Amino acid sequence: MRPAKIYRSAAAKLAAAFFGVFLLLFLIATVTTYLSLRDELIETVDDRLKPEHEIISALWNPDARDSFIENVRALAALSDPKISVLLLTASGGSRLAGNVDPFPVKSGFSMDPLTQVKRREDYSYRLYSRPVGDMQLTIGGSLEDTQELLETSLINLAWTSALAVFLAIIGSVFLSRKVQRRLSLVSDTMNRVAGGNLDARIPLSKSADDLDRLSGTINDALDQLKLLVDGMRQVTTDIAHDLKTPLNRLAFTIEDALQKDAAGEPVSKRLEVARDECENINRTFEALLRIAQIEAGARNKSHFVALDLTALIETIADIYADVATDSGMSLQTEPAGPPVLIVGDEQLLMQMLVNLVENAIRHCGPDTVISLATSVSDDQPQIRISDTGPGIPENERCNVLRRLYRLEKSRTTSGNGLGLALVKAVAEMHGARAELTDNQPGLQVSIVFPATSGETIT
Ligand SMILES: Nc1ncnc2c1ncn2[C@@H]1O[C@H](COP(=O)(O)OP(=O)(O)O)[C@@H](O)[C@H]1O
Ligand SMILES: [Mg+2]
Repeated sequence: MRPAKIYRSAAAKLAAAFFGVFLLLFLIATVTTYLSLRDELIETVDDRLKPEHEIISALWNPDARDSFIENVRALAALSDPKISVLLLTASGGSRLAGNVDPFPVKSGFSMDPLTQVKRREDYSYRLYSRPVGDMQLTIGGSLEDTQELLETSLINLAWTSALAVFLAIIGSVFLSRKVQRRLSLVSDTMNRVAGGNLDARIPLSKSADDLDRLSGTINDALDQLKLLVDGMRQVTTDIAHDLKTPLNRLAFTIEDALQKDAAGEPVSKRLEVARDECENINRTFEALLRIAQIEAGARNKSHFVALDLTALIETIADIYADVATDSGMSLQTEPAGPPVLIVGDEQLLMQMLVNLVENAIRHCGPDTVISLATSVSDDQPQIRISDTGPGIPENERCNVLRRLYRLEKSRTTSGNGLGLALVKAVAEMHGARAELTDNQPGLQVSIVFPATSGETIT
């Protein structure tokens, strides 16, 4: 099933479910309204019948039985049996007075179709019957009005239901169409992305609703994806380009060795050169893999421990002081301040500092002063490595952080252009940023850690 079809059926299912629930609730509401209205109306009739029965019963006097029967007869003559029923029966069931023929009736309230008087098939009578002396007095009222009222309200309810159902159908169709249209914008965009167009983005509506928020998030993810893919393309091209030279050199050396061998000359020197070239290529690949692993988070934060940056630069200074002196440089740490604590991967941070110090030694001339310092500014722990060498031009400071990128003037020095890329990867893994600035003269690299990393230290 194509994505558009899935969305279509999902939207339609949602609308159908909404419609079903709506219909069920409406039916329940209609039935309960009808039943309670009917009970209410019958109760009104009962409230009339009972006092009427009591008023007539009050006329009963055991000493004047005949006059009571006469009174009832007179009352019966006055009332229309189609509206009000009055019946006085003897204990045997025979009629003593009344406006209807005698019929079996039980004491209390009851319903009866009273076929002998009713005007229409479907109307009933509400009856109330109680003994009076040795007789049974039954009075009743037609439910015609009540039933007509119920019928009218039922018709009204039916019309309202029909209208509501109609509106619900229109609403559901409209809603599902609208949702479907918006979702097909998403699926169209994703299809274009799947087709290789990484610039495709989901158009946003003006409503800023949840679908817009979702589309915005997908667009952000697509921006990120494009950045990553562009980065990957760049890296792949750079790697292919930069490894071409050493591989060509290697091929040339082997060719040269083969020719020398054919001429009977010793080839061990050429083989040593070839071996060194292989080792160099290998080192480059290892460094590339290492950076990729750090960036992919393969070395997870389980290695993170609380550590003191000041102690870390002291260790580096101890290791590299002699190397710097051998190159005619001096390496110093700024007067040791209080410990600067962060949570981090000690081994990787050490590698990062080694890369920076080695860069200063490798890319700066004699008499360079290399300084290491730590500080906390705005609650942000920092390490600074500065030198008094040639520095890096401002327009190149972004580039040198890329993999395999080396300044033209450094092409003759050893190295693979991966040192600063690893510095950047390690810094980012710690949520820190690597800033390259002018040391006037020279280069200053600052690693600025986030303020929060200090809070978690106990
Ligand atoms: N301290 C420095 N002073 C001057 N230039 C530097 C310094 N550090 C790095 N660079 C320049 O940045 C480039 C990239 O550095 P890096 O990634 O460590 O690669 P590599 O040291 O292998 O050349 C170097 O080739 C060099 O041109
Ligand atoms: Mg380097």
